[in-house]
Amino acid sequence: MTTTRHAALDMSSEEFRTLGHRLVDRIAEQMARMPAGLVKPDEPAAAVRGALESERGLPEEGTDPQELLARAASLLFEHSLFNGHPRFMGYITSSPAPIGVLSDLLAAAVNPNCGSWALAPMATEIEAQTVRWIAEFVGYPASCGGLLVSGGNMANFVCFLAARRAKAGWDVRKAGLGGPAPRLTAYASSETHTWIQKAADLFGLGTDAIRWIPVDEYQRMKTGDLRKQIAVDQARGELPFLVVGTAGTVSTGAVDPLREIGLICREHDLWFHVDGAYGALAAAIPDAPEDLRALSDADSVAVDPHKWLYAPLEAGCALVRRPDDLRNAFSYHPPYYHFADDVLNFVDYGPQNSRGFRALKVWLALQQIGRAGYVETIAEDMRLSRRLFRLFQDDPRFEALTQSLSIATFRYVPPDLRTKVGQPEAEEWLNNLNRDLLTRVEKSGEAFLSNAVIGGKFALRACIVNFRTSDGDIDALPGILGRIADQR
Ligand SMILES: Cc1ncc(COP(=O)(O)O)c(C=O)c1O
Repeated sequence: MTTTRHAALDMSSEEFRTLGHRLVDRIAEQMARMPAGLVKPDEPAAAVRGALESERGLPEEGTDPQELLARAASLLFEHSLFNGHPRFMGYITSSPAPIGVLSDLLAAAVNPNCGSWALAPMATEIEAQTVRWIAEFVGYPASCGGLLVSGGNMANFVCFLAARRAKAGWDVRKAGLGGPAPRLTAYASSETHTWIQKAADLFGLGTDAIRWIPVDEYQRMKTGDLRKQIAVDQARGELPFLVVGTAGTVSTGAVDPLREIGLICREHDLWFHVDGAYGALAAAIPDAPEDLRALSDADSVAVDPHKWLYAPLEAGCALVRRPDDLRNAFSYHPPYYHFADDVLNFVDYGPQNSRGFRALKVWLALQQIGRAGYVETIAEDMRLSRRLFRLFQDDPRFEALTQSLSIATFRYVPPDLRTKVGQPEAEEWLNNLNRDLLTRVEKSGEAFLSNAVIGGKFALRACIVNFRTSDGDIDALPGILGRIADQR
């Protein structure tokens, strides 16, 4: 009988140390090289599949791990988009904080299952502390409940389910949404991120239950229309239960009139949810829009550490004012789990059962630079965005459209079209021109932008949640775009 097992997957600590040091060296070299390289290589999907040898079948025999890690690093470093590049300004994906990169290694090494305290004593307590710190940072009561999830969609889903359970006047978890119960209706501005459709669909309401409230010229929900729609639905015998205010819309960074929405929710006994996946983290910044402070009135808030806390993917966070609203929405106690109930078991507070240790990377970064460091870094992203907007305002080749938080939108308008802006034919032409420009900028690898559609105009969109972007990168952008546009 042997007393030790030598499994093929295992490694000696010596081998692990050698492989780990080599890998960390390669990552460090890549980080140093990245700013001078392209944001993204210009290669078609077929080339990426070719490099991977994607048709290769499952190997029967093993390969030396050193060789495997070296190849994986080469594949990824040569065929990826780098959202850590200073000129990545697309979507809302941040540069990953290096401490988060190391933290994921540490988290995987311990591999705590953060579903229950018994399986993850220290990790559970670190997650609870992280949730409190995030709440504190955005100005939400630290007594709230909350947990880390995969991102903004999931954080909003968790809050949506807490609202559904709390506001349906019956046991919706048991009886569901069919039968004689009135129809639950949810209210959100027309600029709300598509998570709301997925939530209404996945959780049984159907997307017809969403009442899309129009926005004003600043892309903010019109609260007069919200009031009217709630009254119409109540008169029809429907059951309004949830209003979503967005703190930083996905397209333009607009902040809904959260204070007013909170008042309307109180008047009608509705759940007030704030989708702050992007913008809630700006609530800590002194010159941020005043309405962000009103997220403290919400019943729940979604916040994404993998957006403006620069955590590597994935990390979202759901905050719910009364922890019991989460327990009431998610808890079951099956006989096969032997978990103490005088400690925190996150399995009772969300949809996941086995849960990874997402909190570590957020917890470490929050301590690495502290509240003051984050305030300074987020404020700098916002300053750079305003600077970019001014550059486009002052440049006759561009039309600056919107600026809020760290998102600026604008479009290229060639001189001969200046006087025709607004005319349907010219608008269609400009939309196609800017759509094409966006594709060509992406192919160039010199910068990475995304787009928004604002009042029918196809706009280019720069979102800075990137602690590597500098004044130099901002100042270079109009020149890069103008040059690529002229190469038509
Ligand atoms: C306002 C808002 N809500 C929700 C989401 C979804 O977040 P995630 O992609 O992390 O699921 C986004 C993504 O950009 C967003 O901007």
